[in-house]
Formats: sequence, structure tokens, C-alpha cells
Amino acid sequence: MQQMNHEIILDASALHKRIKELGRIISQDYTGKNLLVMGVLKGAFIFMADLVRAIEVPLVLDFIQVSSYGKGASSSGEIILKSTPTIDVAGRDVLLVEDIIDSGLTIQWLMNHLACQGANSVKVCALIDKAERRAHPVHIDYCGFFIPHGFLVGFGLDFNEQYRSLPAIYHLQPPA
Ligand code: IMP
Ligand code: MG
Repeated sequence: MQQMNHEIILDASALHKRIKELGRIISQDYTGKNLLVMGVLKGAFIFMADLVRAIEVPLVLDFIQVSSYGKGASSSGEIILKSTPTIDVAGRDVLLVEDIIDSGLTIQWLMNHLACQGANSVKVCALIDKAERRAHPVHIDYCGFFIPHGFLVGFGLDFNEQYRSLPAIYHLQPPA
């Protein structure tokens, strides 16, 4: 274990059980659709890897990268598009996959961006809904867990690029 003050919030088995359930629900909803699963880098990559393997309907996948947080735990309030998808979203049913939704700024910006690119539909699947700093109302179509507050790391989630590889989700606590 990397050195940190931590409290485990979601262990690997709880994560995998819930991701399987989400995959089943998404499979039902997207039967007969033109599904493009769009992961938001970097945080969503581990969640997305498990999620796409739990979805039983045909899909294509791609990634988009934006940044809203600079270094540290508070948002800069501004979105920068860092890398664009390689697949044309026009006419596709896009499922945006996010690690965590906090203020809602990032996902709101992404939904608007993909709709402007001509997506047929845009829905949101987030592993964690953290309403602590919600300033932009967003409808999360598929939500893994509601965790009201705290700064979380592991399973893709980082603090200054650290802790992404941890197989569970932890509450990062400031040193005592
Ligand atoms: P929002 O734009 O405020 O909703 O922030 C969304 C992005 O901030 C997420 O995709 C994460 O990259 C990052 N973020 C927000 N809360 C946390 C957290 O608790 N741990 C790690 N990253 C977080
Ligand atoms: Mg993220």
C-alpha cells in the first residue's frame, strides 16, 4: 500500500458487484441503439474497463480528456479540452463515463460539447456522485454510489496523479 492516511470507503468486491449491475441495466437500455461509450480521462479508465466488460450489447468506445482541476483538490472553474475523441460522435448514442461528479461543471460542459458535435443522445454514467460542491445541476442517468463528501482516491481517482492504481476507493485524509 502506498503511504497515505486513509479510510476505505468502497472495497473491490462492492465496486465489482455494483459495476456488474450497472452493466446489466445499461445493456437493457441500449439494446438496438448505436452505443458509443466515452470515457473521461484519466480518472474513468479503470471503472470504464470493468463497465464495458459488463455491458452485453455491441458498442464502440473512445476517450476524451478535459481538465478542470489544476493541482490539488479544488477546481479552477474552467474546462480545457486536452484530447479529442477519434470516433465521430455524430448520430451515435453516447454514454459518458466519469469517475466522480462533484461541482458538475466538467460533465455539464462535456454533455453540451458532445451534443454540439451531433450526438443522437448523450447520457451519463458516473461511478460516484459527490454532491458536496454541486453548482451545476446534472442528471446522472447511471450512478454507482452516492458519497456526499470527502476527497476520494483509488480505482482511477487521483490526488496530484497519485493513488490511481489502488484497487479500492479510499477517503484521503489530511495528515494528523
Ligand atoms: P467537477 O467538474 O467539479 O464535477 O469535477 C469533476 C472532476 O474533478 C472529476 O472528474 C475528478 O477528476 C475530479 N474530482 C472531483 N472530486 C474528486 C475526488 O474526491 N477525488 C478525485 N478527483 C476528484
Ligand atoms: Mg475525472
